[in-house]
Amino acid sequence: MTTAEKAGQLTQYFYFGGIDDAAADPRHGPLPSEQAARVEEAARRGELGSLLFVTDPAEINRLQRLTVEGSRHGVPALFGFDVIHGFRTIFPVPIAMAASWDPELIERAQSVAAREARAVGIHWTFAPMVDIARDPRWGRIVEGAGEDPYLGAAVGVAQVRGFQGARVGAPDHLIAGPKHLAGYGAAVGGRDYDEAHISDSELWNVYLPPFHAVVEAGAGNVMSAYMDLNGIPATSNRWLLDEVLRGTWAFAGFVVSDANAVKDLETHGFSENQREASASAVNAGVDMEMAMVDPAFAHLPEALECGETTEATLDVSVRRVLEAKLRMGVFDAPFVDEDRARDVLADPAHREAARVAAERSAVLLNNQGDLLPLDAAHLRSVAVVGALAASRRDTLGPWSFHYDLDETVSVLDGVQQHLEGIADVRYAPGVRPTQRTFPSIFDQFGDNIPEDPPGFDDDRELARAAELAGEADVAIVVVGEWQSMIGEAASRTSLDLPGRQLELLQAVVATGTSVVLLVMNGRPLDLRWASEHVPAILDIWYPGTQGGTAVANLLFGDVSPGGKLPFTWPRTVGHVPMVHSHTRSHDPERQGERYWDEPSTPLYSFGHGLSYTRLKYSDITLDHQVIAPSETLTASVQVTNVGERQADEVVQLYLHQRHGSASRPVQELKGFRRITLRPGEAQTLRFAIGPDELRYWNAAARDWVVDASTFDVWVGGASATRSTTQFRVTEAD
Ligand code: NOJ
Repeated sequence: MTTAEKAGQLTQYFYFGGIDDAAADPRHGPLPSEQAARVEEAARRGELGSLLFVTDPAEINRLQRLTVEGSRHGVPALFGFDVIHGFRTIFPVPIAMAASWDPELIERAQSVAAREARAVGIHWTFAPMVDIARDPRWGRIVEGAGEDPYLGAAVGVAQVRGFQGARVGAPDHLIAGPKHLAGYGAAVGGRDYDEAHISDSELWNVYLPPFHAVVEAGAGNVMSAYMDLNGIPATSNRWLLDEVLRGTWAFAGFVVSDANAVKDLETHGFSENQREASASAVNAGVDMEMAMVDPAFAHLPEALECGETTEATLDVSVRRVLEAKLRMGVFDAPFVDEDRARDVLADPAHREAARVAAERSAVLLNNQGDLLPLDAAHLRSVAVVGALAASRRDTLGPWSFHYDLDETVSVLDGVQQHLEGIADVRYAPGVRPTQRTFPSIFDQFGDNIPEDPPGFDDDRELARAAELAGEADVAIVVVGEWQSMIGEAASRTSLDLPGRQLELLQAVVATGTSVVLLVMNGRPLDLRWASEHVPAILDIWYPGTQGGTAVANLLFGDVSPGGKLPFTWPRTVGHVPMVHSHTRSHDPERQGERYWDEPSTPLYSFGHGLSYTRLKYSDITLDHQVIAPSETLTASVQVTNVGERQADEVVQLYLHQRHGSASRPVQELKGFRRITLRPGEAQTLRFAIGPDELRYWNAAARDWVVDASTFDVWVGGASATRSTTQFRVTEAD
């Protein structure tokens, strides 16, 4: 290959051929038609390694033909796409899937997503996002597994297994590309793309473990992050990409940059020009650049001539990219069967999987007086209130593009179907859809901007909603954020319910009708008023294609909610960041009084989530009270369903090291299991506690340590659990 051909293999282009020029935001570069023409030129020159954002199988075949015929060596392209929570069948958003605390479910969901995407000719997904997120102002909290590294690692691994199957190249599967290495979730102020400053201890103990876990699980690709990590751009961070990822973790796949992140090296004030940017990224370990047009990697031949990089460096990266193509079988089968694609996308089993996922990810936050489940047989009229209740597009959440709105079930659809012939269901939006103050980068994809109904009279609609609620036996109110308000480039300074939604809720509650509140969200919102005045609150997240059916099944008791919060729910934005695994400090008795204007305890703690039954935990027993640092003990606990309904529970195990060679958190999640219990049924669960659970990165020693210490063990259905016992770890054996 010539150096230009090699640089081409290392380049991935967005392809926006299907987008109308009129819908594009000119601030993001050339018009889609012009951009598409330039990309096709690169394919014809044999200088294209990969494409992203093409989802139509016929179009994929056409572009693949151009690429194969354009390449002197007949090298096909890899097609990548953001298959984040489904392709045609949309599953609940990733934070919701994490709230299921159910790795098997998550694996199954991503294997359905992989099957659909692979059927249309996609080879590679830019997922899972395994960035730990501790600041809900950051819009991308919705794409990850929340605040905790242990849960985050388990959820990330399950996704990699689902996407990839047993190995890179498994039929009906994709290459998984965990992202964004590393620390993207710690953007200052929650401002998307901005710099992150992460201490050594936090980096190793919090932000890196999920990445390490997904690499160990065999992820074939990793994406580098946009921001500066402790002063060095992540996309040119040789320590991170080479020493840690390839050296310490033995990652054998290829690294792609985030979109335009190589070009950004100049923006960061790091590289002097695009040539230097290309060299510094490839030298640091970025194998492929993701670019719109004018990739920095087009300067690689020049950089080579100037001696800024070497032929050997390029060859290593080209080999990694070609290896990925070989392993995915793209040389053998570059084209896709368009008829089969249609059949796979129509598979009803996929919709069924999405319904189950939505049922299992909902979190019951409040249920005073056991208002839920509702007894459909005793209802004559139900009011469904809130514009989000009827919005199919918002039910799907962000990062969905190839959905089918006709087959999407909104909350209103779901409740209506469930109560057909049983009760009268009446709907009022109450508020108009709230708009962002500036456009979203996704507006060009259509359906992204919520429609403002013509002639909507705000005061009249609000009054009408309250009137309808007042006449009903029960009011189901849906509040939250429109999907365009969360995700990439969707950070906020506030956690308030957008628009007049709180006022609407207050008006409905004031009628005296029983209110069930459903929250459609991807981040914690300020629910202080609701938590005190609304008896039942169910977090349904953005529940996906079958969301409404699942929600109705939960509301009317066909299934019991069993999800648990994957983050600490702050009372107000002023609490941020707030995590369950903080350390103790001076005056711990006043831990809840760190602010004088608001309790500093969370509104809902990490791991919280109620169900329709009552559970009893027996005392925890340990098979050893004392172990050496290399030994493992087993903790056992029995959980009994002492209520009247079948329900799920997520049994959580937390450890607390009482003293050590560094300050230790008040608690750390070190085990969990989701179980289903029939009324009266008991199950005994066992958790191993050994070196993996005990070790941590000590920033003073700059090493992993297991300290001799006393450890408290808590097992229960939330992080606030207090069923406890202790064991001791001795000095090194
Ligand atoms: C930018 C985002 O940061 C990344 O997560 C995504 O995969 C790419 N754009 C491609 O859409």
